[in-house]
Amino acid sequence: MQIGDITLENNLFLAPMAGVTDKPFRNLCRQLGAGLAVSEMVTANTALWHTSKTRHRLDHEGEKVPCAVQIAGADPEMLANAARLNADAGAQIIDINMGCPAKKVCGLMAGSALLKDELLVKKILDAVVAAVDIPVTLKIRTGWDKQSRNAMKIAKLAEDSGIKMLTIHGRTRACGYKGNVEYETVKEIKSRISIPVVANGDIKTPFDAVKVLEETAVDGIMVGRAAQGNPWLFREIKYYLDHGEPPARPTLQEVGQIMLAHMRNLHTFYGEYTGVRVARKHIGWYCKQHGIKLFLQKVYKVESADEQLLVVEDFFSKQHEIEEEKAA
Ligand SMILES: Cc1cc2nc3c(=O)[nH]c(=O)nc-3n(C[C@H](O)[C@H](O)[C@H](O)COP(=O)(O)O)c2cc1C
Repeated sequence: MQIGDITLENNLFLAPMAGVTDKPFRNLCRQLGAGLAVSEMVTANTALWHTSKTRHRLDHEGEKVPCAVQIAGADPEMLANAARLNADAGAQIIDINMGCPAKKVCGLMAGSALLKDELLVKKILDAVVAAVDIPVTLKIRTGWDKQSRNAMKIAKLAEDSGIKMLTIHGRTRACGYKGNVEYETVKEIKSRISIPVVANGDIKTPFDAVKVLEETAVDGIMVGRAAQGNPWLFREIKYYLDHGEPPARPTLQEVGQIMLAHMRNLHTFYGEYTGVRVARKHIGWYCKQHGIKLFLQKVYKVESADEQLLVVEDFFSKQHEIEEEKAA
């Protein structure tokens, strides 16, 4: 799959998710088969770039290329400037957020709130595309609410402005995460524009991925929440696409190995205090995805990185013993 002059390894995307898709998680999903992992949104307001949160979001050292950075804001010049600075700092793709319903973003009239003002959308797209000589992509919802679905109009604006790929979360902002994803709308948009279209929303299994690809004829699919605690999903989707057979789930031993390596990366990336807290969230997701309940209470209580690793290591070494006993 192509985004401008960039060729991706495949058409499977990790969705940008603030507080989730940091550099360690993006690298992990790429390692396990995602063709592209879009960064958490970074505010276009450079006055806020000194905060620890944003500094971590701007850190792409050692990240697998191509590196796609998502920017959020409402002011065309500020967004253009943020795009330029991120390109200078090593981003190969800039993604503009017009899809996020988060209150903080919408309160500031950014994210999906922008869809209400098509003139402003046009100004933003023109300004950002003119600011950088790397591909600019756009992520949208189908509209602000059911009465004002304008994704087709925005898609045409995007194509005319030189946007190189459009991702559509097939819901309106008002729908939040409820209700069925409007894949009919996504299909229609794909059939009417010539830039690549990526479908997003509720893709939870390899079977969902193949169904959406076949039914909408989109160029790629993007997975968000279903990848939390489950970075193997990309490998599984790829396997199903390549072989047409259901993929094997990771063994508990592999879950343990990946989880521990992920935790170590989080501890290094954020430092011990924040790293342990961020890791707790991911541990919770891994456990939920893989039906593990036993050690959660214990792991939530520990404060040091070493102890956190020990609790998890201990659990998995015992599981390994149990599995070996069962097999004997
Ligand atoms: C915790 C969380 C954070 C998110 N942050 C962003 C973001 O920074 N930028 C964005 O465009 N969308 C954001 N989204 C929306 C996702 O990218 C995606 O469009 C949405 O979750 C639907 O995909 P899914 O059903 O596969 O999760 C976020 C979603 C979640 C759950």
